[in-house]
Amino acid sequence: MSSGYIQYHGLLLPTEAHSMESLEYAQNFTVEDTDVFAVTYPKSGTIWMQEILPLVLNAGDLTPIQTIPNWDRVPWLEEKRLAHVVDELPSPRALVTHFPYNLMPPSFHTSKAKVIYVTRNPKDVMVSSYYFHQMAGFLEDPGTFDEFMEKFLEGKVMFGKWTDHVKSWRRSELGDRIMYITYEEMVQDLPAVLRCISDFLDRNLSEEIIHKITEHCSFESMKANTMSNFSLIPKVYMDQTKSPFYRKGIVGDWKNHFSSEQLTRFTSVICKELKGETFSLPGVW
Ligand code: A3P
Repeated sequence: MSSGYIQYHGLLLPTEAHSMESLEYAQNFTVEDTDVFAVTYPKSGTIWMQEILPLVLNAGDLTPIQTIPNWDRVPWLEEKRLAHVVDELPSPRALVTHFPYNLMPPSFHTSKAKVIYVTRNPKDVMVSSYYFHQMAGFLEDPGTFDEFMEKFLEGKVMFGKWTDHVKSWRRSELGDRIMYITYEEMVQDLPAVLRCISDFLDRNLSEEIIHKITEHCSFESMKANTMSNFSLIPKVYMDQTKSPFYRKGIVGDWKNHFSSEQLTRFTSVICKELKGETFSLPGVW
């Protein structure tokens, strides 16, 4: 299959999942006060949140994660699938999006919908993305690691620059509607993160349910879950013999990929672009 992208407000979006109609649909989408959005830059833990949110919202009921493919269970705001499944979504609805803040629909801004923003170390994001570009038939071939790094740093990859995305979602006007978590925290202590999410979403989950969700959201459990491991997707779209979707699921794999020159270049570009920002990203950057 051929990879193709559309340009949307300066961002490259793969045409396999996005169209001008789906983007217009997203802009006109009526966000409800009870909606919960997991927002990520690609390869930061999106699919993980698609597993976690229905479990947290439904007191650990396994039915959604065992019967509905992740892309329909917690659909992407910007993707073509949303229009097909929106009427089936239970309330409160959980959605994911890779949109930067400025592309969220007007109804989001006037709603009380909540946001969980997941950040991941950009070096690990880039490594994960490099392998994803090798296996995803709908994405451009990444070329060499060096070539891919340049594209990543220039934002010539899907959804643009990592720094722009992270910066865009630091909005004081969102107040307590937004919660920031990191992929690194999730790897280190998932139960603690689940407790925070449970509080944020006013769920008051018992320790027993937290434990159950932790088990079902482990790397191994998700990799084995047919509804979440993309084994239902034809090989032409995702060839898991080239690289599995659930590749490593660890923190710091960048150390196995970056040369010291690449590390210096990457660090200097990201630092420059984050200079002057008042937020800190402990454990991430
Ligand atoms: P790696 O390629 O580093 O393994 P996204 O869902 O945003 O596309 O992110 C994919 C990354 O999240 C992949 O990283 C994948 O392995 C990792 N991931 C998914 N589920 C995970 C889990 N339960 N535990 C740890 N990492 C997970």
